[in-house]
Amino acid sequence: MAGVGDQPAAALPPAAREALLHYVQVGSLQDEGAVLDAARHLPLDRVECLWEPYLLLAARVREAMGLPGLTVEQTVPFRDKERMKQRLDAAGIRTPWHATTTTAAGVRELAARIGYPVIVKPIAGAGSADTYRIDDDAGLEAALPLLAHVPEVSVEEFVDGEEFTYDTVCAGGRILFENISWYRPRPLIGRLNEWISQQIVALRDLDAEDLAGGRAMGRAVLAALGFQDGFTHMEWYRKADGEVVFGEIGARPPGARSVDTMNHACDADLYSGWAEALVRGRIDQDLTRRYNAAAVYKRAQGQGRIVAVDGLSRLLAEYGDGVVAVDLAAPGEPRRDWQASVIGDGRVVVRHPDLATTLEMADRFATELHLYAA
Ligand SMILES: Nc1ncnc2c1ncn2[C@@H]1O[C@H](COP(=O)(O)OP(=O)(O)OP(=O)(O)O)[C@@H](O)[C@H]1O
Ligand SMILES: [Mg+2]
Repeated sequence: MAGVGDQPAAALPPAAREALLHYVQVGSLQDEGAVLDAARHLPLDRVECLWEPYLLLAARVREAMGLPGLTVEQTVPFRDKERMKQRLDAAGIRTPWHATTTTAAGVRELAARIGYPVIVKPIAGAGSADTYRIDDDAGLEAALPLLAHVPEVSVEEFVDGEEFTYDTVCAGGRILFENISWYRPRPLIGRLNEWISQQIVALRDLDAEDLAGGRAMGRAVLAALGFQDGFTHMEWYRKADGEVVFGEIGARPPGARSVDTMNHACDADLYSGWAEALVRGRIDQDLTRRYNAAAVYKRAQGQGRIVAVDGLSRLLAEYGDGVVAVDLAAPGEPRRDWQASVIGDGRVVVRHPDLATTLEMADRFATELHLYAA
């Protein structure tokens, strides 16, 4: 494997450094010319990228070098949320009512046309940044100044319901691996309330009846976008009446170390599985889903440095090998920015074949494990 990055080779995590045969450092990954130049000097057969902001760059490198995989034109519907939904509307997929605008007056007009509540968000956002649920005119006027720096926004019907992912690894347009994760609570709510320990639960039983609609929608979305090879991460909503609504899709794995959570659900390695899919067109691993695996993300209370972790030893003693990952900021480390990443001050992953038991364990870690900073 070969890498192009903006860090010195010595600063790469050991696992990445050891896996690379070649590494070229560029001044900035935003310097497209420098990246193309670096790539031309590497023996490349495929170009993959797991970070949303550089998916178009990866596509440009592929095009410049005549490599297989998503072109720029094929990548745009995965990046631009309006183009994405237009394509899916044309394929008959249920998306939230939506339109875009570049002005404050435009937002007011669309909100009036759609009716509150509405969602306003950047057309090419990530990490729920600059995303607002707006319930009335006063809320709209309060949000507009916060959106002034966003060049173009999408205004959408607010879809009330539960929120899930639909993730895949594909080769040659065939789905080799599927995952559905359940967000507890919805990401926007988790993102706005610091006291919440967000959970992302990779579900064991994808054949459950209440997931069938979302799973079928996920397959239809991949077909509509003509996705062929690699990882995908889609989000969808299920309303109280059972209707499923498309949220968004990325041509990359999910973030927040959710691939690790999927690995815990299957006892597999989907990072190498992704590579196998690209290189051989198949995954030679047992991908049977044996567990529900729940990642619980923690935020410390207080500011400054972590001074104490409370409740961990008791919960570990109680749940034993049901706890498969504990990756928390250690005492002495500075608190991380909880608004900048889902992971925040760390995560715990628990798993169990039974969903109710998994959720019970996850909720105990959400409510009884505390990190304190001072
Ligand atoms: N139309 C909608 N109806 C209801 N909730 C919505 C809608 N659009 C967005 N949201 C909420 O806002 C969150 C962020 O929106 P979205 O996923 O489109 O943006 P994002 O910034 O790409 O998110 P991320 O990178 O965190 O997945 C969603 O997970 C959902 O909770
Ligand atoms: Mg999202």
